[in-house]
Amino acid sequence: MTSFLRQARTRYSNLNRNSRILLIFFSAVFMLLCYYSSREIQSYPEEIIEQHVVKSSNGVYKIPKGPLPSVNLVVAATSKEDYSWVKDLKVPGMVVVPYIADNTSAPHHAVKNKGHEAMMYHQYFYDFYDNLPDISILIHSQQLSWHVEQLLDQSMIFSINHLDLREVQRRQFVNLRVTWGIGCSTLSINTTKVTEESGNQPEQKEMQEAFRANFNIYDIPEILATPCCSQIAVKKEKILSVPKEQYKHHINWLENTHLPDSISGRTWEHMWQYLFMQKSIDCPLEHKAYCRLYHICFGGREQYDEWIELMQGREKLERELRKVREDEEKSKADLSIAQKKHNEEQKKKEEQAKKDKKEFKKTEWKQEKNEAAENAKKKMKEWLEEELKSVKEAIRVRKEVAVVRGSVESNRVAEGEDLYGDEMEPGVEAKILPPPTTTKGAGGAEGTGVRGSGYGGGVRI
Ligand SMILES: *[C@@H]1O[C@H](CO)[C@@H](O)[C@H](O)[C@H]1NC(C)=O
Ligand SMILES: *[C@@H]1O[C@H](CO)[C@@H](O)[C@H](O)[C@H]1NC(C)=O
Repeated sequence: MTSFLRQARTRYSNLNRNSRILLIFFSAVFMLLCYYSSREIQSYPEEIIEQHVVKSSNGVYKIPKGPLPSVNLVVAATSKEDYSWVKDLKVPGMVVVPYIADNTSAPHHAVKNKGHEAMMYHQYFYDFYDNLPDISILIHSQQLSWHVEQLLDQSMIFSINHLDLREVQRRQFVNLRVTWGIGCSTLSINTTKVTEESGNQPEQKEMQEAFRANFNIYDIPEILATPCCSQIAVKKEKILSVPKEQYKHHINWLENTHLPDSISGRTWEHMWQYLFMQKSIDCPLEHKAYCRLYHICFGGREQYDEWIELMQGREKLERELRKVREDEEKSKADLSIAQKKHNEEQKKKEEQAKKDKKEFKKTEWKQEKNEAAENAKKKMKEWLEEELKSVKEAIRVRKEVAVVRGSVESNRVAEGEDLYGDEMEPGVEAKILPPPTTTKGAGGAEGTGVRGSGYGGGVRI
């Protein structure tokens, strides 16, 4: 506890200084932006999408001319789920295509309610094969969920409204999730572990068979790694690079596999990058991916890591505060029980005295107090509350600065270069993932495991 306090106190004094510096920086950037352009910072979609940059083959960035890409938003839902929040999306011209798992009368539906979103995504690729927009975004029906990053407010509306469609076109296939915590740094899949039970990943021991059945190959990559959760965006060309009949093959597999529904659906979380990119590992560096894909640019790896530390600090403080508050509630409850007991005893004694015709004098209940201990607790609580407030403020300011920085094209170009990392990147010391396997086109994974943030995770369902 004391070392935690010491740590937190150091952080506190740093924070004040840092947030002041950041505020000054933020104001300066803001003024510059206002000076150079009359664009509103908050109204992203139209203007910013229009000026998104793409990198052409000779390595030069340019602003593309011509119309915006056409977009389908494929929402995988059950008939009970409410996805009416999609009306708040602001991507110009986007068409919403709901796919319903459990209603074969719905205009778009799964052949069978099996395999979760994977079944519906494949059905969409199959059904729309000859009628695809430039970009297809495929998501679950929930607007708020732990599947979406904390930095993106865990909100699908925020994510999609900030998604850089030009970047999706450039990369051709993107995982909407960025953090490595589930799927890249930890909980990647080792396909050779066919006999080992894994509580967090019941699908791991089925992966080899699933992969073989879906792709009809013998030489299976040992490691499959990509951020979790199966929410993706794919360019038309990539969808068409897979023969139409292959989607049917995947649908048939999902329909006929003996694997439980939830497991078969989850095996696909680890296979989309292979289907579209022939990569077994696809883990872009987090801060670069945020910058390029969502225009939240912290300025570099170190600054991003600092933000993560702040988030972890916030979590720790929240945990501590919760504990203090629970203690407080508990002692309140204990107190009221003691009082009640005292009153009951008094009543009994009074009745007895009446029976015995004796005089009875009530003793008032007196709370035993340890004032020093109580004051210490109160001080602790106040201190934690103050601390939490300043950490939250620092988080807010840093994010706002990152958003402003990300709205400037040249910043994105500078920070987002080499999405998968390079030698100069600080902290790329340990390559946790093995070199690419013999499978053709298997992607290399750069970056470190430890730096990947696990804070966005949660209990899987
Ligand atoms: C199934 O879809 C049809 C057509 O959209 C609709 O009329 C019907 O109410 C739906 N059934 C359920 C149970 O949602
Ligand atoms: C995958 O698991 C096997 C054991 O089944 C182990 O020998 C191998 O080292 C693991 N691969 C990696 C990259 O961890």
